[in-house]
Amino acid sequence: MSDFVTAYAPASIGNVGVGFDMLGLALSGVGDRVQARRTDGNSVTVLEVRGPDGDLHPHLSTKADENTASIAAQALWNKHGNVGGVELNVLKGMPLQSGMGSSAASAVAATVAVNALLPSPLAVEELLPFALEGEKYASGGMHTDNVAPSLFGGLVLCPEVLLPEIIRLPTPAGVSVVLMYPDLQVNTAQARSVLPKSVSMKLWLEQQGLLAGFIYACASDDINLIGKSLRDVIIEPYRKNAVPCFDDVVAAAMEGGALGCSLSGSGPSIFALCKDSDADNIASIMHQECRAFDIACQTWVSSMNATGAHIEA
Ligand code: HSE
Repeated sequence: MSDFVTAYAPASIGNVGVGFDMLGLALSGVGDRVQARRTDGNSVTVLEVRGPDGDLHPHLSTKADENTASIAAQALWNKHGNVGGVELNVLKGMPLQSGMGSSAASAVAATVAVNALLPSPLAVEELLPFALEGEKYASGGMHTDNVAPSLFGGLVLCPEVLLPEIIRLPTPAGVSVVLMYPDLQVNTAQARSVLPKSVSMKLWLEQQGLLAGFIYACASDDINLIGKSLRDVIIEPYRKNAVPCFDDVVAAAMEGGALGCSLSGSGPSIFALCKDSDADNIASIMHQECRAFDIACQTWVSSMNATGAHIEA
């Protein structure tokens, strides 16, 4: 049994445009790390939280009941830890309130790290409910579309009605994802509170058709159908105004050959799916368009089958 481990969990795109609260995609090359060390205490504590620059994080709390990582880890430790406690160090690799699944990545990394310290670690599928405890605290609602892809990797369908079952979907060959983070903050709980409580049958049918088409397109490598189906007709209209560059970035990415382009989670990040060969160019187009609004930004290019959370050697 180890006394000290480090776990990594990737950033993720919630909703993936078409599947509000039920479809998520892991990203490669950006994520959070959590170090976990056994202690003689009797609970999970947080020693420090550091930001992407390596400095102590100016905003995230080290109080165990106010940090998504420790809340998730404590839920697991309460149920399966035997004796002693655990001390966490949270190393954030992404900005907060960015639409990149930041709170989920910390909760998942902490759950995976603490699992490795258990006398009998659980299977990865069994970790989902514990990681969700942390996410629930951070975003004020029950949605699995960041936690599930961060934990399992790739593209995951996770509608609440089927939980704890989740479906790991096949990803299309030859398609990359570009994610652009404009230097703005969107609070997910707030972005959820402005959504309508009901939608028309017409819109519901349209969005269902798009989601079904998108999933089939991914499973059958149908690039044209991905382009046709990657749209959000219900949620995005309520949220896009929080991102001043949204319409222009989307238009430029589509002009540059993107298959589809939408908000990542509740924003402000914007993602595009595109052919592998177009990815670098589309990343640079999105970057330039955002900078034209005088908003600083960062972009990442990722495959669609990024690996999920894991223990690092
Ligand atoms: N499904 C969530 C939402 C994702 O759109 O509110 C938040 O990242």
